[in-house]
Amino acid sequence: MESVGERIVRLKRERNAVILAHNYCLPEVQDIADYVGDSLGLSVRATETDADVIVFCGVTFMAETAKILNPGKTVLIPDPAAVCAMAQMCSPEQIVSAKAANPGKEVVGYVNSTASCKAEMDVCCTSSNAVDIVSSLKSEGAVFVPDRNLGSYVASRCPGKDIVLWQGFCPIHQSISVQQVRELKAAHPGAEVLAHPECRAEVLALADVIGSTEKMLNHCRESSLDEFIVLTEVGMRHRLEVNCPGKRFHFPESAMCGAMKMATLETVESVLSDLGNRVELPEEVVERARRPVERMIRRS
Ligand code: 13P
Ligand code: SF4
Repeated sequence: MESVGERIVRLKRERNAVILAHNYCLPEVQDIADYVGDSLGLSVRATETDADVIVFCGVTFMAETAKILNPGKTVLIPDPAAVCAMAQMCSPEQIVSAKAANPGKEVVGYVNSTASCKAEMDVCCTSSNAVDIVSSLKSEGAVFVPDRNLGSYVASRCPGKDIVLWQGFCPIHQSISVQQVRELKAAHPGAEVLAHPECRAEVLALADVIGSTEKMLNHCRESSLDEFIVLTEVGMRHRLEVNCPGKRFHFPESAMCGAMKMATLETVESVLSDLGNRVELPEEVVERARRPVERMIRRS
């Protein structure tokens, strides 16, 4: 009898499908994916595939971005309830008002936002290219939505730019406390500290390296050190352990994103089998949202 993994491989071939998975997904989902990466890597990969079907293991905004970049393809999300909490903290109407209130400033939007919000943005960014995108703006300032922590990190790296911050945040990264980091450092005094820029400024101040999940992986792979405190979502441990054999990683164990665990082998098999849970977006939203996403990819 075929195992679930074997059925997924067969269905993938029959459907001419590709499976993309974020670094926070369950280990077994990462293991059956064709590509695992951070938000930027996944967006770029979504533009490069010649598959007819993209199964996107991650949260809904990521699958929507794949659809925006591939309107002619079938994009499936294993569980449509996998919604990023931060992406809910901003609406298209609020962006339109913020634009009117800040003439001369461009709206830079973190990809952790809905497709209808992206349709109102001037340019998108991810955690790996946000500083480059903002510093390359011709305008003197920007309205940065929706993550106030990434926004304030970007502002600290772009001193010439006047940046208006939104008040959104990731509840998982926001929950990582200075106290937790101090305890991890005391328990592992030789470890280097890596932090995701969605963490609070006072947590970032304790980090040796700040960057996206893929930047963390590249740093750990290349570093001569063998022990790291990793201030991000715990799903990242699997990617690090697979790619950095023999190295040790310590996480704030409570930092877990439930939405990122909703893609399972069973839900992946199910959507491949019935082509269900298709990402559908109004044509006008896709057209308008593609400009800021493509502008970001061109800059990266
Ligand atoms: P990365 O782009 O660094 O993978 O981050 C995505 C995310 O949702 C972090 O919480
Ligand atoms: Fe959204 Fe935070 Fe989950 Fe990333 S970890 S998907 S920002 S809720």
